[in-house]
Amino acid sequence: MFSPEGKKQVECLLKRYPRKQNALLPLLHLAQRENRGYLTSEWLKHIAEICEVSPTHVEGVATFYTMYKFKPVGKYHVQVCTNVSCNLCGGEKILEHLEELLGIHAGHTADDGQFSLEEVECLGACSYAPVMIVNEDYHENLTIEKVSELIESLAKRKEEWPKRILPVIGKNSAMV
Ligand code: FES
Repeated sequence: MFSPEGKKQVECLLKRYPRKQNALLPLLHLAQRENRGYLTSEWLKHIAEICEVSPTHVEGVATFYTMYKFKPVGKYHVQVCTNVSCNLCGGEKILEHLEELLGIHAGHTADDGQFSLEEVECLGACSYAPVMIVNEDYHENLTIEKVSELIESLAKRKEEWPKRILPVIGKNSAMV
């Protein structure tokens, strides 16, 4: 199921761990990226075969973590933190502004598939509140103006799918 480039990355990942099942989390990440941002039961089975564990085990792990998605997400997946620090610094207002800008409520994807919006718990960057992530990029110390500019520039991009959705896993990759 992996692309030729994805297969190379799978090989690279498996070499890093003493047991195949230790590579489960990064493999799920890789599969999710290859499948444009979400996992399916076929992908979970495929990962189970690679890791030599049961599909039930893989499903249990994948459904435990909120970073794995099981339904299609937009080309730009916007995740806004509204936990305490961010909320005190205007996180709720940022979320409301995004809902208005994108024309969708949190938890939804726009009909054209461009943007998904999600309200999330602490992103571990409280010192830079309010914070959001777009795909894998952090955007910190947000203001209404910054958010508007970012969304406008993303909406103008012509790329079919963000290039970084297919990661480079090298020796020094911080992915795992
Ligand atoms: S509360 Fe938002 S990053 Fe921690």
